[in-house]
Amino acid sequence: MPLLHVDDVVVRFGGVTAVNQASFEVESGTITGLIGPNGAGKTTCFNVITGLQAPTSGRVLLDGKNITRMPVPRRARHGMGRTFQRLEAFGSLTVEDNVRVALDVHEGLRGMMRPDDEATFQRIDELLDRVGILGYAEERADSVPTGTARLLEVARALACNPRLLLLDEPSSGLDEAETDAFGNLLLELAAEGRTILMVEHDMDLVMRVCHEIHVLDFGSIIATGTPEEIRNSPVVQKAYLGYSEDETAELPVTEEVAR
Ligand SMILES: Nc1ncnc2c1ncn2[C@@H]1O[C@H](COP(=O)(O)OP(=O)(O)OP(=O)(O)O)[C@@H](O)[C@H]1O
Ligand SMILES: [Mg+2]
Repeated sequence: MPLLHVDDVVVRFGGVTAVNQASFEVESGTITGLIGPNGAGKTTCFNVITGLQAPTSGRVLLDGKNITRMPVPRRARHGMGRTFQRLEAFGSLTVEDNVRVALDVHEGLRGMMRPDDEATFQRIDELLDRVGILGYAEERADSVPTGTARLLEVARALACNPRLLLLDEPSSGLDEAETDAFGNLLLELAAEGRTILMVEHDMDLVMRVCHEIHVLDFGSIIATGTPEEIRNSPVVQKAYLGYSEDETAELPVTEEVAR
């Protein structure tokens, strides 16, 4: 059984159908890509999965359980974590305090930690180190580079020990070396048994780390396959580039072209 099943989801905003009968699955322990042109409905899908957006119709199943109407905090307790395309860190707090808040909410309220314990400091350092931003621990979150703020969101999501991690364009703002390291981190997280669903425009990263890719276009899933299959799919090439000749080049491999 897949860990996540998005089943025939429709989201309408007035006259705009942002998600149009989208169905896809995410297998446990894999890295799955959700890609598609701008405005395809990727972030809206994430919002439905995480509970920020009620679907017009359709269902979301986590481990076979229908969570379509489950409130956001309960989804977090069921092991769902996410990052946001538009950064959502607490700007006036330091990088480490952003992670402390997440740990506090996740564990502290259940009496399992205290924000000022040595163990908590250690845990925060481990999380920041894991995503490669320990050097920024004491900086205010609104003063760090965008790429660092994105990694901070990943650290904050990891603080809640998610089994399903949804990442919305995590590599934007990262340079090539940082993206490389980030890809390695994703592979490590999957090897630990975490499941990752990632919206991402950097096709090099998507092709390198994803086990399976779903392609959204105008709110509908138009292709599902391995990186190789997606790269060579005429349907996908048409969605991205507006043409579909079989002999055309591969799917764009740079962020610039993909956008
Ligand atoms: N709250 C909203 N109200 C009205 N329309 C919305 C809302 N949110 C999204 N939309 C519209 O729904 C469609 C899908 O948007 P969405 O943000 O999900 O796309 P996306 O695939 O994440 O795009 P991008 O790659 O640019 O982030 C777009 O046409 C967008 O303008
Ligand atoms: Mg988006």
